[in-house]
This record gives sequence, C-alpha cells and structure tokens, in this order.
Amino acid sequence: MRLLVLGGTHHVGRAVVETALARGDDVTTLTRGASGPSASGALALHADRTDPGMLRAALGAASWDAVIDTWSGAPAVVGDAATLLKDRAGHYGYVSSRSVYRWPTPPGADESAPVVDGDPADTGSEDYAAAKRGGELAAVEAFGNRALLARAGLILGPYEIVGRMPWWLGRIDRGGEVLAPGPPERPLQLIDCRDLAGWMLSAAGRGLGGTFNTVSQPGHATMASLLEAAIRVTGSGARLIWVSPEVIEAAGIEAWTELPIWLPPTGEAAGMHAGDVTAAYAAGLTCRPVEETIAATWQWIQAEGYPPARPGRPGPGLDPEKERQVLGSLPA
Ligand SMILES: NC(=O)c1ccc[n+]([C@@H]2O[C@H](COP(=O)([O-])OP(=O)(O)OC[C@H]3O[C@@H](n4cnc5c(N)ncnc54)[C@H](OP(=O)(O)O)[C@@H]3O)[C@@H](O)[C@H]2O)c1
Repeated sequence: MRLLVLGGTHHVGRAVVETALARGDDVTTLTRGASGPSASGALALHADRTDPGMLRAALGAASWDAVIDTWSGAPAVVGDAATLLKDRAGHYGYVSSRSVYRWPTPPGADESAPVVDGDPADTGSEDYAAAKRGGELAAVEAFGNRALLARAGLILGPYEIVGRMPWWLGRIDRGGEVLAPGPPERPLQLIDCRDLAGWMLSAAGRGLGGTFNTVSQPGHATMASLLEAAIRVTGSGARLIWVSPEVIEAAGIEAWTELPIWLPPTGEAAGMHAGDVTAAYAAGLTCRPVEETIAATWQWIQAEGYPPARPGRPGPGLDPEKERQVLGSLPA
C-alpha cells in the first residue's frame, strides 16, 4: 500500500509508520520536522500543515492508496488536507476520539451515542471534543464513505508522550508504598498504539470506512493487572496500597490527571472505561495483553528516557507529599 501519514513522530503516528513499514508498505510522512525524524525507511516530507499553500507544495502531485491523519487541533486543518487529497487517495483514516460523545457518556454507549457539535471549517482548537468532532466532519465531507473515523479510547504503548503510563512506571520503579486507586478489579478499557495502528492499516487496505469505537473490551485490563504488570516489568519492590474511591475523593485527588488512567467506578466518568466496541471487534480489532503494552513502554523509556512535559500542560501524576499524607491517614 502507498501510505501517507500526516504526523508520524509520536505515539500513534510513529506506531502507524513502524507497523506499515514492517508490513512492507511504501510510507510517506508529512510533519514540520520539529519533533524529530521519521522512522528510517519512510519518505519524510516537511511542511507546516496549518499553511495550506505549504502543504500543497510539500505533497506535490503524488497520490496514495491511503492517508492516516493524527491531527488533534483545528478541524479546518483536517479539511484542507482531506480536500487536497480526496481525488489523490483512496481512503482517509482519521484518528478520532471517544471524547466526541456528549458528556457524560453512559456505560455501554456505542457509536450511535449523541456527539458534541463540531464545525469542519473551524480554524480554532480551544475545545478538544469539538475539535475532534469537527475533524471527523471535515474528513467525511471530503472522503464520504471512504473516511474511517477511529474513535480511540485511552491509548497506551510505546512513545506515549502524554505520559500517563510513563508516570505510573516511574512511580512504581521508585518503589516503596504506592497509592493504588481501587477497587483493584476496576475494569479498564485501553488500546495499545500498535494495535490501533495495525487495525487502521488493515481497514485502509480493505477500504473500510465508517465510525468505530476503537479500544479494548471493558475489563481487558484492570487497575490491579495494570499496576501488577508494571511491578513485574520494572522489577520493582513497590508495594501497592489499595485506596478506595471515597478516600481518594475526600483527599481532593483528581482522577485521571493526578492518578492517570484511573477513574472512579461510579459517577459521571463511569462510562469512560465501559464503551461498546462490538463494531470494531467485528471488523477485526484485536488487543494484545496489557503486560506486552507495559513491557514495550518500559523498554522505550529505558532506551529513550521519560518523555518531557508538554509545553503549557501540567504533567500527569500525584505529588509524592500528597501520596504520603493519604497513605499515612489510612487506618492501620
Ligand atoms: N492519547 C490518548 O489517549 C488519545 C485518545 C484518543 C484519541 N487520541 C488522538 O490520537 C492522536 C495522537 O496522535 P499522535 O500520537 O500521533 O501524536 P501527536 O502528538 O498529536 O503528533 C503530532 C504529529 O503531527 C506533527 N505536527 C504537529 N504540528 C504540525 C504542523 N503544524 N504541521 C505538520 N505536522 C505537524 C508532529 O510532528 P512535528 O512536530 O515534527 O511537526 C507529529 O508527528 C490525536 O489525534 C489524539 O486526538 C489520543
């Protein structure tokens, strides 16, 4: 397959490029070149795609069997690329997000759940959910049923610059008593970037369009299986101290950001690890065991170091002093 990846140096994009090269695809990437080089073996084009003229010049007159777009900002940027490519590419895979659903998303919600409003022509990107929905609409406007909207849930795996699993691995590697947000059997829904990449490439090869929640079945991992795998993979002597959602809430600890990945099992966020993924599984999605995801993330950190904090965004994770206070307040 002749594949164009818009992006390609971080998490999902890098997994798409590496997976495609391993399959024998002919891969072109388009980035500014600011985040480092593309994988060797890909043809690297450079342009700031927020400038449609620069994008047009960089892409020249080439054509591709498929495009995979990792953009998460202003929808008009997706629209410009998709419009430029609609007669020159057979398929447009857009890495979307389950964030497009109206909040709160009820447990069991499938692709027919109500979505937020989005404007495909929007040139701003303040609201993430609206930007992703606008990006979806822009892709469909140009490619129709040749557009694939992969509404990913929580994406983990190597090159995760968001830093959620890297934070947990670093915390567990530091050892000692670790605040583990309970209950231990809390089901999680996640996808390894390499499984997302493989499925999107397979869909592109089959010409599969449409909208899919692209994440594991709920309970593919649990909080306990995730953290215990992190202990095994790092070889840490850390001891997990399970703390109830009520104690976490009373301590004013933010789910998801201070305790990355974790969400309380009840309340508004309950549906976030409980989406319906029947359609993606029926269309061939497979998810590797979480231990493989965590091992590969650890290997990447060992090879390339922890990802730097993203400019202007607080890094995920819990302040050690806050953790110590909560653990110290627990009944003996
Ligand atoms: N993390 C999650 O749990 C999660 C969940 C659901 C969905 N998602 C979605 O997954 C996607 C993640 O994509 P990703 O992992 O590949 O990472 P990313 O950090 O969004 O990658 C951005 C890529 O685009 C390039 N880029 C940035 N600005 C550019 C510009 N102005 N012109 C041209 N290229 C530009 C970057 O390279 P240069 O810097 O070199 O230009 C980089 O290769 C996003 O769409 C996100 O919404 C994530």
